[in-house]
Amino acid sequence: FCVWGIGREATLAIIKPDGLLGNYTETIKATIAHSGFKISREKVVQLDEEGAANFYAEHSTKKFFHGLIKYMTSGPVLVMVLEKENAVSNWRSLIGPTDGRKAKITHPDSIRAICGADVEKNCVHGSDSPQSAEREISFFFDTPSGSQRGGDDEHDEL
Ligand code: PPS
Repeated sequence: FCVWGIGREATLAIIKPDGLLGNYTETIKATIAHSGFKISREKVVQLDEEGAANFYAEHSTKKFFHGLIKYMTSGPVLVMVLEKENAVSNWRSLIGPTDGRKAKITHPDSIRAICGADVEKNCVHGSDSPQSAEREISFFFDTPSGSQRGGDDEHDEL
């Protein structure tokens, strides 16, 4: 059984503060559309420290945690639910390696090669597994994606 329909999968994408600030949203959305994803939910969110720490809880012991939280709370982000077959792995391939600087060399066509500055300011997020996607989607969206298809464009505080 798959709530997204036969063969369909959902992933959570985030355009991070530098992506929104740098006006990369249209370029990234064009890539999303060309790649056959449907954006089923989206909203702009200003994360606070508690929200960001919860979202990235699995990285709380990492050295970069504090910097990551500071960065992710430095401005609004655009969160989107992307749907298609193999959405999780497809979106991860499209965004490229974590470090935007390395992406420019090894994956020049990736989204992070285009708008990621370095390993911290890397412009976009993608869920790393279907299980993470489920958790991350319900972190930002109350109701299952399927029940409000094509609907909301909310502006929330977290
Ligand atoms: S790990 O350690 O392999 O799990 O890390 P990785 O999957 O590459 O990254 C997990 C998230 O942490 C961010 N990250 C960093 N932020 C700041 N500084 C440094 N050095 C750093 N390294 C990794 C990375 O962008 C990932 O965030 P998301 O939003 O999941 O892309």
